Amino acid sequence: MAETDPMQATTLSPRGSYWITTFGCQMNKADSERMAGILEAMGYRAGDDEHTADLVLYNTCTIRDNAEQKVYSYLGRQAQRKRTNPNLTLVVAGCVAQQEGESLLRRVPELDLVMGPQHANRLDVLLAQVEQGQQVVATEEHHILEDITTARRDSQVCGWVNVIYGCNERCTYCVVPSVRGQEQSRLPEAIKLEMEGLAERGFKEITLLGQNIDAYGRDLPGITPEGRRAHTLTDLLHHVHDVAGIERIRFATSHPRYFTERLIDACADLPKVCEHFHVPFQSGDDAVLKAMARGYTVERYRRIVERIRERMPDAAISADVIVAFPGETDAQFRRTLALIEEIGFDAVNTAAYSPRPNTPAADWPDQLSEAVKVERLQEINALVEQQARQRSARYAGRIEEILVEGTNPKDPQQVMGRTRTNRLTFFPGERADGRPIEAGELVTVQIEGVRAFSLSGKLT
Ligand code: SAH
Ligand code: SF4
Ligand code: F3S
Repeated sequence: MAETDPMQATTLSPRGSYWITTFGCQMNKADSERMAGILEAMGYRAGDDEHTADLVLYNTCTIRDNAEQKVYSYLGRQAQRKRTNPNLTLVVAGCVAQQEGESLLRRVPELDLVMGPQHANRLDVLLAQVEQGQQVVATEEHHILEDITTARRDSQVCGWVNVIYGCNERCTYCVVPSVRGQEQSRLPEAIKLEMEGLAERGFKEITLLGQNIDAYGRDLPGITPEGRRAHTLTDLLHHVHDVAGIERIRFATSHPRYFTERLIDACADLPKVCEHFHVPFQSGDDAVLKAMARGYTVERYRRIVERIRERMPDAAISADVIVAFPGETDAQFRRTLALIEEIGFDAVNTAAYSPRPNTPAADWPDQLSEAVKVERLQEINALVEQQARQRSARYAGRIEEILVEGTNPKDPQQVMGRTRTNRLTFFPGERADGRPIEAGELVTVQIEGVRAFSLSGKLT
């Protein structure tokens, strides 16, 4: 479908302004963009203030306890506003909504709609029920419909495209399978069609999304003549690679258990696939990995990284890691630090273990104290930053291809974009002849300044 047409929007009944706050991962960000698209198609317009908007939607995350608690404090303020302004529509979407369901209504009776992530594409239907005076809870398992509304995207250059929803893994710490449900892969044709639509609207970079993207296709039917699954992430990359106008393709998140040599070869062979891999390892100790039910060893992880670097020597590698998992000894924690030093990561997202509802590890007796969590997190963060700084140093003096995403919000004289390896890069926004550099341009930049997590330079 075409982008929301402003002429058409004026013929819809105006419904006031909306505000969406998004917590959590890229999956939630992609869902929020689709829900914003639905709201605009219904006649809502984007508001610029959370505290005066007519409809407020919190798209929530429950991966760790602090993410969940943040939502309750936001909700408290809105519930208070609703007591003096009954026309306010209050929506909680996403993973806290799925986890808490009905009990959220008991906790915050002012809520109009509680909807799990599988219902994001049904926001209009659910709001129609709210408009009839109901308080609605939509958390039942739902087959996710193909998008019928165009998302309202935050960026005009880089877009997210969901390829698989849900997760069938059972990592013992993780709440995602219980809130995102069973894996559901989209058909390659639908994915390609969405990418073609984005390309027509000027998008240049696509990130294919899934909680466990390597699982793509295992729920789709078909076997190749060679006896392989007909649909894998590798096949999908080949299938979507030639969409005209798309210059860069990324994907996340990879699971080391399923990351194949075939996939690495495809990334090396397909020119648009960027040399950046986000492959969480979670722990550098085999016994901890086993307790987490991750299904791989440290050795297997090392081999994946080696293979990536054999085929793409300059590839950036990033990861997620959890410290202070139940029972983690100091020696086991040191193995995680050692692995970080050995690999030399470009970036690592770190978190202290947080017990989550309906997950096995939350009930284990050997939980570690808050003090140990804080101590280990500080130690690992210092190492991660030092490693990132070392990895950044290799860019000094180099010439890098940058896809311009927009103006630097902290300095309007500068524009910013990313290297193929995903390093954020800042540089002056004007050419020598005074012409501005626009979002969406691919330019080459000589790198002069290197910091742990960003670079700066000048146009060549
Ligand atoms: N599907 C991805 C990531 C899912 S959640 C994967 O398999 O790696 C994103 C990150 O949050 C995880 O990689 C993990 O590092 C962290 N995380 C998940 N559950 C957590 C918990 N209970 N406590 C602390 N960190 C957690
Ligand atoms: Fe959670 Fe594991 Fe699934 Fe990742 S693979 S979303 S960590 S259960
Ligand atoms: Fe959070 Fe849900 Fe994503 S719990 S990390 S928003 S899948």
